[in-house]
Formats: sequence, structure tokens, C-alpha cells
Amino acid sequence: MNSRPIGIFDSGLGGLTVLKVLAKNFPNESFVYLGDIARLPYGNKSPETIRKYGDQILRFLKDQDVKAMVIACNSASTVYLGEKFFEGIPLLNVIEPGARAALEKGTSTIAVLGTSATIRSHAYEQTIKTLSSKTTVVEIACPLFVPLVEEGVVHNEITDLVIKRYLEKVKADKIGTVILGCTHYPVLADDIRKFLGNVNLVESGEVLTRELKSLNIPSGSGTRQIRVCITDVTDHFERLAKELMAPERLGPLEKIVL
Ligand code: DGL
Repeated sequence: MNSRPIGIFDSGLGGLTVLKVLAKNFPNESFVYLGDIARLPYGNKSPETIRKYGDQILRFLKDQDVKAMVIACNSASTVYLGEKFFEGIPLLNVIEPGARAALEKGTSTIAVLGTSATIRSHAYEQTIKTLSSKTTVVEIACPLFVPLVEEGVVHNEITDLVIKRYLEKVKADKIGTVILGCTHYPVLADDIRKFLGNVNLVESGEVLTRELKSLNIPSGSGTRQIRVCITDVTDHFERLAKELMAPERLGPLEKIVL
């Protein structure tokens, strides 16, 4: 037994799509989530800046006495590739497990959707090619998806238009597997599926569940706490966070200073 929480972070609220899945799949675990809303988005920032922000957040999580840390942000994961620990605490990122999960679908081509930072890094393409040199990888930056999700502008004709603009090639080429390479994108999964039809969507939450199980860390005690901390608070984010986490009930969001 180890009732210490699991730490999770993202640039904003998108990582709550991961927290929600982990909270459901690990009902005895406590979690501390940090959304760096004050500095969102990360997807258009340089690797150096993302690393600086990421290290500050991982230190914050370490101070919360977490037993493992999950980078629920693909843009940040690209700068921690291959790093299994942060200052002695197990560290998970989404890229390598996401690439493996996509390959398990067995299609000849995989599309990777991500922020500009994730696509520019080619982290998914290189990881997939290392594991399977024959697989074709098509990378598509979708920078408008994050602001749509953070603003709660989803499931309408605006999202349909943006999805069509970014995913026309995926549809025309009948690509069978699509990695949602940004933790904001699962919010758009139904809209993406509506446009693409029958497709395998790989989402970070499920991928990280498997990865966390494989760590075999001692499990929690049963009475758990889920804390959501953010670096800036507005009514809008509070409302959106509660909507994203429903039916899981959240206490008030905690404003923290890094
Ligand atoms: N949710 C983050 C990701 O998975 C990125 C959002 C952002 O651009 O800050 O990449």
C-alpha cells in the first residue's frame, strides 16, 4: 500500500482527459493535477521553454510527495523522451506508449495529429520508425484544436470546418489509425470520428493506463483525493474543468504559484 498521490500535468485543461481515464481505471489512487493555464499554449513554444516550464512543474509535483509523475501533454513529452525518472521519481510520457499502441492496430499507415511543437519534433515518427521501419507516418499539425477546446467551442459547425481542413488527407487516403497526439483532442474524438468514419483513434488516457499498470507501483488505500491545481483561475476554466471531469466530482480548483 502506498497512499501517496500520482502527479499529472498538462499546459492546460486538456490533460484532464487523461486524469478522467486514470481516475476511472485506478479507483483507489489519489491524484494531483497541474494545468499551467497561465502559460498555455505550449504547442507553439520552443523545446527550451517547454523544458523550463516542465521542470518547474515536475518539482512542484515532487513537493506534493507524488509516487509517480505523468506528463499528460504530448508537447512536453517530446522534450522528456526516454527519461524514466525525474529526481528519483518514476516519470511517464505519452509518446513511446502511444506509438506502440498505434502499431498494435496493424495498419500500414499511421497519422499523427499534434500541436506544432509535437509535429516539429517528429518524436512520434521517429519512435514509430524505430519500432517498425515499414510503417508510413503522416504528421499533421492542428494548432486550432487546442484553442477550440480551451474555449469550449466543440461539437458544432466551426469544429466541423476545422476538422475537415486538417483531416481531408487522412480521409482521402483512408488512413486506418490516427494518434490523437495532444491531450486536448479526445474532447473532439466524436467530431473526428464523425468526419473520418471507421478509424482507430489512439488516445493518451488509455495508453497511459497500461503504462502506469506496468510500473507496478504499490497501490493506494481506497479513500482518495483528486486535487486540480492551476496557475491561473477564472470562472470559465472552473466550469470547463468540471464539465471535462464529469461524472467525477471535483472540489474547487486550487490556484498555485510555481
Ligand atoms: N495538451 C497539450 C499536448 O498534449 C498541448 C496543448 C498546448 O498547446 O499547450 O500537447
